[in-house]
Amino acid sequence: MAGLLEGKKGIIFGALDERSLAWHVATHCQQEGAQIVLTNTETAIQLGTVAELAAVHNMPLIVCDATKTEDIEALFTRARALTGGDIDFILHSVAQSTNLRRHKTYEEANYTYFQQTLDISALSLHKLLSTAMRMDVIAEGGSVVALSYIASERYFYGYNDMADAKAMLESIARQMGALYGQKKGVRVNIVSQSPTPTKAGGGWKEIEFFYRYSDHLSPLGNADADDCADTCVALFSDLMRKVTMQTVYCDGGFGRTILTPGLVDDYRRIEDVKD
Ligand SMILES: NC(=O)c1ccc[n+]([C@@H]2O[C@H](COP(=O)([O-])OP(=O)(O)OC[C@H]3O[C@@H](n4cnc5c(N)ncnc54)[C@H](O)[C@@H]3O)[C@@H](O)[C@H]2O)c1
Repeated sequence: MAGLLEGKKGIIFGALDERSLAWHVATHCQQEGAQIVLTNTETAIQLGTVAELAAVHNMPLIVCDATKTEDIEALFTRARALTGGDIDFILHSVAQSTNLRRHKTYEEANYTYFQQTLDISALSLHKLLSTAMRMDVIAEGGSVVALSYIASERYFYGYNDMADAKAMLESIARQMGALYGQKKGVRVNIVSQSPTPTKAGGGWKEIEFFYRYSDHLSPLGNADADDCADTCVALFSDLMRKVTMQTVYCDGGFGRTILTPGLVDDYRRIEDVKD
């Protein structure tokens, strides 16, 4: 049986190393028959392991800073030449907050860093989609997915300016989804993923506690990187051809749950320790 993405061509932004969500998405898409072009910044390629991974899996790797329109234009031109045609799907898996990295509290955020967070983590999706529309890079009925987190819509202690970036990212996906859908039938969706151990996902000190809490509050448990990848494959495929402008929660039910027996047990154990 043919793979779900047989004959399709995709560009994957944001694979840094083998833990990256984007790396899992890239390999799952390849397994489903897609031809993949990887892209990341020069620094990420130097500091991460994506170049070795790309070579082993025979995926071209193109340098592109997603905040620079001229880089995105060059990427699209090369990707089209390398794959021999229009692009069917794109994954935006790009985020960075220097406020988070430097442990700045939200109320004392550095505004230069704040603007960089928005530029890298949200506006880059606008630039990517706007450039793709102008250059007419994406095939009729194509699919674009960006990764987000539920802190876009709920207060989450410690998520800092990334929460604002994710809210903006999701809004951009809706607005551009409407425009690109009407123009060329291109879908734009968000996958809102469970906390997952990656470089970007591990930038704060309470993270181990939070993974456990999230796992116990989610009726299906935390979604891992492979679950995220399968959700993206489904959205890239023709099976989801009428799904657009949506936030799809790959979170084991976390966002719809207030209390589970697992969490009650955790509290009981804590109380026992205190007694
Ligand atoms: N890991 C999690 O817990 C989690 C949960 C929900 C959503 N997400 C989102 O998933 C996406 C991928 O994160 P990840 O967890 O795989 O971590 P990651 O660190 O592996 O990926 C982040 C990527 O963004 C890239 N990037 C940063 N600045 C860039 C720029 N200017 N141009 C192009 N690329 C740039 C980095 O090089 C890196 O490859 C992010 O949007 C993140 O917010 C992660």
